[in-house]
Amino acid sequence: MSTLKINGFQINNICCIGAGYVGGPTMSVIAKYCPDIIINVVDVNTDRIKSWNGDYKYLPIFEPGLSEIVKEVRGKNLFFTTDVENSIKKADLVFISVNTPIKTSGIGAGEASDLRWVESSAREISKFAVGHTIVVEKSTLPVKTAEIIKSILLSSEQNFNNDDKTKTFSVLSNPEFLAEGTAINDLVNPDRVLIGGEDNESIDALKQIYSKWINQEKIITTNLWSSELSKLIANAFLAQRISSINSVSAICEATGANVIEVAKAVGTDTRIGEKFLKPGPGFGGSCFKKDILNLVYICKSLGLNQVASYWEGIININNWQQDRIYKIVVDKLYGNISGKRIVILGFSFKADTNDVRNSPSIKICRQLLGEDATLIINDPKVDKKIILNEINYDNRYNYKIIYEKNISKAIENADAVLIMTEWEEYKNLDWKNLYKKMRKPSWLFDTRSIISFEIIKETDLNFWQLGNGESI
Ligand code: NAD
Ligand code: UGA
Repeated sequence: MSTLKINGFQINNICCIGAGYVGGPTMSVIAKYCPDIIINVVDVNTDRIKSWNGDYKYLPIFEPGLSEIVKEVRGKNLFFTTDVENSIKKADLVFISVNTPIKTSGIGAGEASDLRWVESSAREISKFAVGHTIVVEKSTLPVKTAEIIKSILLSSEQNFNNDDKTKTFSVLSNPEFLAEGTAINDLVNPDRVLIGGEDNESIDALKQIYSKWINQEKIITTNLWSSELSKLIANAFLAQRISSINSVSAICEATGANVIEVAKAVGTDTRIGEKFLKPGPGFGGSCFKKDILNLVYICKSLGLNQVASYWEGIININNWQQDRIYKIVVDKLYGNISGKRIVILGFSFKADTNDVRNSPSIKICRQLLGEDATLIINDPKVDKKIILNEINYDNRYNYKIIYEKNISKAIENADAVLIMTEWEEYKNLDWKNLYKKMRKPSWLFDTRSIISFEIIKETDLNFWQLGNGESI
């Protein structure tokens, strides 16, 4: 692949393909710290682009601090558009920030990444790019994907028309490590920025962008494959800690230990560290599961079957934890929840986001509905329509799902309340009064360990808290 050698290649114009949870917030932050760079965020989803351009209160993504930044830069140097062709034409650098879900059919179904959106992005870049373009993988990708992107771009380098002799490309990997709910803070103060590539000129150009607000020491450069692989491994390590502590939660319940105390005692060892040891209803979100499945697929493809089953175990524990909670709820309610009213507090996969992808609430709601329960669902940020789409997609459970914004009203005559997401507003509910509205015997199930047992002791509530061996 030929690259254009310009000393100090300057980025004046950026295009980001994909206006999703990564593309939107990441480009907003770059726009804020690089006011001299024009950024066009493009998407094929016209509704999404429309709401990025709409009322700041209703941006397509809820992230603390995001709307303030969008307000500051939108229309100045940040633009959301469906004009893919012209945005690529003008760009010195294009981020590919599209979805990379798991394949649902064909070879590798259920494990391998579906790269159709990455491939179409590469084809669009190869078709429309003008001059030298740095192409940056921002999406999480299987190791060696840059090989595919380079091959697509290379074919366009060879096929350029005569008046476009300088069409050249350089491919970098720059995976994103932000977490939803803390995306803006993660982007503004990242632990590190990772750039993988072969061409120092392009690496430096991308480094210059991040250097506007991030210390140079935090910018790690590697070869392409280390960078692609590191992203998958980082997510696998994070998910591994969650499955580890969730497995411990079950041991605690069986022995009278308390998982929060154990996590603290273990995590204060600086070699282990205290972060990412919160027990819960299993990890959700769009990435941990898909990225580990992808890692498992890669390992199997490499003939590393023991390694594949090691990582697969993390997903098995995650599924087991979710099933375990459902069975405990049914068991505590006398093995029969038919017609019983169960309040679900929290539908997003974690607090401070409106994202429900792979949320543990989806699975548990379906399981409870399968036992003929009536669900009253509350979430401060997830819309009714999205909740119904996720669990009632075939209209099977009409009249069995009630969406209630008012928590106190939701709890009226309920048999049980199940806390699924650690939203701030659920932490200090007035249980001394709320429990009186419930049908007796009433149950509170806390899968996020956010309720003080001392307060519950002052009520007649039956209380089950994940990993708290004393609460049952
Ligand atoms: P998303 O689904 O929210 O957004 C992707 C967007 O790309 C969609 O709006 C889609 O319409 C658009 N798109 C797809 N193909 C396109 C094309 N050819 N042209 C224009 N637009 C196109 O996905 P996301 O959550 O932003 O994730 C994107 C990538 O980043 C994934 O690989 C994911 O694994 C990775 N990632 C996500 C997070 C996260 O917190 N969500 C964090 C780090 C990394
Ligand atoms: C995760 C990673 O944290 C990011 O670094 C990464 O960039 C991102 O995936 C990605 O690649 O998409 P995210 O899924 O947004 O970010 O959120 P997390 O905070 O990691 O939470 C994931 C799930 O694990 C949530 O369901 C959360 O409730 C759960 N979790 C997290 C726990 O149960 N315990 C913990 O200690 C931490």
